[in-house]
Amino acid sequence: MIEIPQAVKQAALELQQSQTDPLAAYIYDLPALDSHLQRLQADLPNQVELFYAVKANPNPVILQRVAAQVDGLEIASGGELELITPLLADKPFIFGGPGKLDSDITAALEQGVEALHVESAGELERLIAQAEARQQVAPVLLRINLSLPESMRTRLTMAGCATAFGIDPQALPAVIERAQASRWIELQGFHVHALSHQLDAERHLQLLGHILQSCQQLAQQHGLALKTLNLGGGIGINYRQPEQQYDWSRFAEGLHELVAQPGLQGVRLRFEMGRYLTAFCGYYLMEVLDLKQNHGQQFAICRGGTHQFRLPPAQGHSHPFVVLTGTGERRRGPELQQARISVAGQLCTPKDILASDSLVERLAVGDLLLFPLAGAYAWNISHQNFLCHPAPVFHYLEAHG
Ligand SMILES: Cc1ncc(COP(=O)(O)O)c(C=O)c1O
Repeated sequence: MIEIPQAVKQAALELQQSQTDPLAAYIYDLPALDSHLQRLQADLPNQVELFYAVKANPNPVILQRVAAQVDGLEIASGGELELITPLLADKPFIFGGPGKLDSDITAALEQGVEALHVESAGELERLIAQAEARQQVAPVLLRINLSLPESMRTRLTMAGCATAFGIDPQALPAVIERAQASRWIELQGFHVHALSHQLDAERHLQLLGHILQSCQQLAQQHGLALKTLNLGGGIGINYRQPEQQYDWSRFAEGLHELVAQPGLQGVRLRFEMGRYLTAFCGYYLMEVLDLKQNHGQQFAICRGGTHQFRLPPAQGHSHPFVVLTGTGERRRGPELQQARISVAGQLCTPKDILASDSLVERLAVGDLLLFPLAGAYAWNISHQNFLCHPAPVFHYLEAHG
């Protein structure tokens, strides 16, 4: 299990004390977020920009904190654009994703979007029409559904196979020519977000090498002076073996070698990472309400559930957690010892399971379960209104006292 900072544990127990009802909460460790981002930025080559994919966690406090450290923001909807608007005086933004509305594109052009990631021939036509109507040249990267060798895939691959994302390699030459022919499009380069959940730095570097080479070839074939290549996001979090995370140092070292290759000088490379930026700073916290056995299995029923933390069922894993012995009056026996438990929430569905067959040394009603790696695709991807439970408490740790 990964080390949980003492300050987080202490905040969890203090939060419990401050609540009259049993606790469900998110704790965000902001100093840890800061230092994680500082490290990533320090290790990246100068030519590489780090953008934040807002969809990973659009919480305004997190967003503001992340925005202060990254080079820009990636959005995928008009709603995300509204959310980041207060930050746009300081940071550029890019707009990607399928199914963009005309009204979203208009808003993005009005706000001075740094690049629009065009997903299809039809979307390009709509953009040309709007740009012409506005008499405003639109900066564009074409999103390619690039062919990928089997060895480069992960369990969530969006390129090299039939998905709703990006432009098919067969259709691409005509789309490039159309973009080049329009005076309302400034074709800056290409965008490839090929996959998520990449846990292997070596394979990731191979993937990037493949993308860089393919995009350079395409540019050459079409006489395009490449200005920008967006290499997507996709670095994963190891939820199953939390102590074995992505080897960032090796990745950064390999990236320096990759970008030094001939032909890339003067090309701006950009990442739009989500999960890897914010996952580590977030913790989800549940208080044990009840302990019971059913058909030979031990369950801990806890405050909250997958309507607040949908990440484990969404990713199909049993989420790791630590037990914090409750200090309040609600703690009561009998206490389980050396037991294997499933962690269930408060919903009326057997799918409301956050962890299963997890070993606990001691556990009683009134104890807290603290789930790390909960800062991305957690609260914001959850079906929050199911059963009309209130939202969890949100707590922001400002300093490690
Ligand atoms: C186009 C695009 N860019 C970036 C991301 C962020 O991916 P991740 O959180 O895996 O880094 C996503 C996630 O789905 C995406 O669809």
